[in-house]
Amino acid sequence: MRIAIINGPNLNLLGKREPEVYGSTSFEQYLELLKHKYPQVQFAYFQSNVEGELISKIQEYGFDWDGIILNAAAYTHTSVGIGDAIKAIQTPVVEVHISNIWARESFRHHSYVSSNAKGVIAGFGLLSYDLAVDSLLGK
Ligand code: DQA
Repeated sequence: MRIAIINGPNLNLLGKREPEVYGSTSFEQYLELLKHKYPQVQFAYFQSNVEGELISKIQEYGFDWDGIILNAAAYTHTSVGIGDAIKAIQTPVVEVHISNIWARESFRHHSYVSSNAKGVIAGFGLLSYDLAVDSLLGK
């Protein structure tokens, strides 16, 4: 099972960024735990602050990997291009958010990702990514 995790803008600052919302663990630290928890999964990880780079990675993993876990961060709410990329590929995409986007400002309530995603997991902190892996594993 090959799963690509793609994180969008400002998620490189996890651990330092608004810890009251996003926690105090860096994604690199968390990824080590995830790899340990799911030894049967081959993970790829990519983060970018650049919209086009995220689209290129979605395309790259979108045809022969088993799943993509996508936290498009702020681009979730703005990017028609990322929504179109998800529609264009074959690999199932699980949309993930660390925070509960529906409990926050109204501009975070709309997602260009959701309608083309297999499902959405939000609000469980970094555990949202574990739950996304479980969903792809059929657990
Ligand atoms: C986020 C929620 C987005 O609204 C925000 O722009 C982010 C992170 C989350 O994981 O909770 O950068 O996707």
